[in-house]
Amino acid sequence: MTTTTKGEEEEESEQVVTPWDVSAGADGKIDYTKLVREFGCSEIDENLIERIERCTKTKAHPFLRRGLFFAHRELDEIVSAYEKGEKFYLYTGRGPSSESLHLGHLVPFQFTKWLQDAFKVPLVIQLTDDEKFLWKDLQLEDCRRLARENAKDIAACGFNPETTFIFADASYMCSSFYVNMVKIAKCVTFNQAKGIFGFTGDSNIGQIGFPPVQAAPSFPDCFPHMFGMNKKSLKCLIPCAIDQDPYFRMTRDVSHRIGGYKPALVESRFFPALKGESGKMSASDPTSAIYVTDTAKEIKNKINKHAFSGGGATIEEQRENGANLEVDVPWKWLNFFLEDDEKLKEIGEKYGSGEMLTGEIKQILVDVLTPMVEEHQKRRALVTDEVLDVYFNPTKTPKVFLDLFREYEEKEFGKWEKKKGGGDSENDDLCAALEEKMKLEGATENEEGCAIGAPKSEDWLRIRKERMQRDAPTEGSKSALKKAAKIKAAAEKKAAEKAAKAAARGEAAT
Ligand code: TRP
Repeated sequence: MTTTTKGEEEEESEQVVTPWDVSAGADGKIDYTKLVREFGCSEIDENLIERIERCTKTKAHPFLRRGLFFAHRELDEIVSAYEKGEKFYLYTGRGPSSESLHLGHLVPFQFTKWLQDAFKVPLVIQLTDDEKFLWKDLQLEDCRRLARENAKDIAACGFNPETTFIFADASYMCSSFYVNMVKIAKCVTFNQAKGIFGFTGDSNIGQIGFPPVQAAPSFPDCFPHMFGMNKKSLKCLIPCAIDQDPYFRMTRDVSHRIGGYKPALVESRFFPALKGESGKMSASDPTSAIYVTDTAKEIKNKINKHAFSGGGATIEEQRENGANLEVDVPWKWLNFFLEDDEKLKEIGEKYGSGEMLTGEIKQILVDVLTPMVEEHQKRRALVTDEVLDVYFNPTKTPKVFLDLFREYEEKEFGKWEKKKGGGDSENDDLCAALEEKMKLEGATENEEGCAIGAPKSEDWLRIRKERMQRDAPTEGSKSALKKAAKIKAAAEKKAAEKAAKAAARGEAAT
């Protein structure tokens, strides 16, 4: 995008934000308001956060409350649909270019984990080993190995292995994925790609061809084992840092033309580097970041020696003027990782006014980060190759679409007991419930090779929408009453069973 008009847009050194290059403007800061305006996304407001809390019955994550995830595209539409009972899936990813992750890398995954738990939806995680091979001076074999190593750190964030699919491009690439890629690719000219990504004649053609690889997972039929073969079976929500926006702007531009929904986005600010905010942290300078592999001693040293401080140069100056919170890295990092709102507020007031010294806020940060990193290391040690294989398995069993939304279905049908191990009678049960559901939805049988119960035709969605409108509780229609009675009966049955069990246990004890 070039502007020929002279005026406020023209600065000495413009900030540059692309998926591969983030550099601040002349004042050393990223102007997020300007970014939102340029990219054409929207800021997340209080009202939207409240709606999310209401429909998930969950307090918003600190990243959301504190405006660290601050921008979106059509997140409000995802929430509106969710309020009416429609589910979606989450898609995020990582380019595996380093052996271990730093704290900034954890941010989108911690947030995605919260989204998954709050909305109770499935998740796909893309590891772009191909992207890193094409852009970095790395062998493909190393990128593939790093993808698997990084996946251990990602899994250690606590994703539900039953509803989370992690894949590396070079390993997963399959027909359904490729079909989406070529369809997307055909919609984007080289000139458009140059405009969006800044490709030049020197870019290798793998790079130029890469954007459809990152775009494709925005469509559920890339994952037939999870979502079935219908490109419109589910909407997609993508949590990411705002530098990934160009990929998904492109995706949203072509969505309708290839017959899919536009993916929605929820986007974060950049995690400030230890040595001061000017975009991303540098992997080539180990003191510019704290890694999830760092020891307690390293964490303490790095923060004390390298964390950029907005405090006064001397104790007297700090006492006199207080700290400049705008540039202070310990303060910024506490905003990410200190959960207690009250405590954070108090620290901000005391440090900002000079009552608290730089050494003190640094110590608080050390005390917050050390247990967090140690916890992570413990959880990572538990991610064995077998555990990882469960996440990477592209033929998850049971291959049942509705299983991904078990809680929702339980509520609707009261039939969805937790099924594990899978005996025949359990399977019969499951199939019966599915059949009933499909009959109710007016769906027909599924094609071979796709998740059982996954919606197949676009009719299915139309039928479902009509059903939802018809069944809106306010209308008090026959079917809504019937459904309510069914839900009530199921809940009562469950409660009675629970009470009976508790009583039996009580008797045994006395
Ligand atoms: N390109 C991203 C990176 O280099 C990785 C990625 C792939 C991603 N798909 C994504 C990030 C979806 C966010 C959302 O880190």
